[in-house]
Amino acid sequence: MEIIRTPLEMTAWANRVLATGQTIALVPTMGFFHEGHLRLMRKATENADHAVVSLFVNPIQFGANEDLGRYPRNFSRDCQLAQAEGVDVLFAPEVEDMYPAEAATRVIVSGLTDGLCGESRPGHFNGVTTVVAKLFHIVKPHCAVFGRKDFQQLAVIERMVADLNWDVKIVRHPIVRETDGLAMSSRNTYLSASERHAALCLFRAIGHARRRVRAGLVEATVLHREVEELLRREAVIIEYVSFVDQSTLRPQAVLQKSTVLAMAIKVGTTRLIDNDILFEEH
Ligand code: PAJ
Repeated sequence: MEIIRTPLEMTAWANRVLATGQTIALVPTMGFFHEGHLRLMRKATENADHAVVSLFVNPIQFGANEDLGRYPRNFSRDCQLAQAEGVDVLFAPEVEDMYPAEAATRVIVSGLTDGLCGESRPGHFNGVTTVVAKLFHIVKPHCAVFGRKDFQQLAVIERMVADLNWDVKIVRHPIVRETDGLAMSSRNTYLSASERHAALCLFRAIGHARRRVRAGLVEATVLHREVEELLRREAVIIEYVSFVDQSTLRPQAVLQKSTVLAMAIKVGTTRLIDNDILFEEH
């Protein structure tokens, strides 16, 4: 596996590959890999001749009071894990090369970024779309793999790609969970044993919602109340519980095929998100 440090060298590599008629799949990440990231990498190797993983803790998607300073990092371990997945290139640029002092451009998707996580994290998605747009230009992938764990991020990126007529296929990967149901996340390392236990309420809420929907419940307000009650049994702070359409992210009063149950909670100082398409078979 090659490690590339600068955007210029990354694009030169991409141009060489494209000149031979071969294809590139990209997995954008912020590192500290877990099994969720590794599955995305596996999917990338299946989808193209070459897989590129970007590792960049993107400062402009973190709010002033968020965890940029303490975001977990382990570069040598990440290199080993990516190599074992058959990744061709790990692209790990420096902040100064991605955002030189004179940089003045942002890519902004409006509307879809206002609700859900956008409400408590103003500007977050502008940081995400800006860095993903830059990565697409630098790496020139045919396809890019994203996890459904961050389902609003995925909807926003799909919107950006459609709106800008971008010839990149976005591949959605299902949520990868621990055996007890907790959605994998680099931020799970922040949790104490008791916090980790409390965080399982998210998966319990999903199980409850799926059972209620299977039994024929269609009123979102009823399920909303039940899910909140269930979450409140643990020492967590609820940021939002929403039932939204998986593409438009509009709230839905009637639960239906396209409905996603999306939740964000705080356990101690750690913010966790989870979601599920309630009618989809797992
Ligand atoms: P990061 O949190 O490192 O996640 C990288 C990719 O892994 C994202 O597409 C995310 O949805 C996916 N992922 C994380 N946990 C997952 C899980 N449990 N199951 C499935 N997929 C999972 O998301 C980001 O980085 C950044 O915002 C980024 C897109 C790289 C832009 O900076």
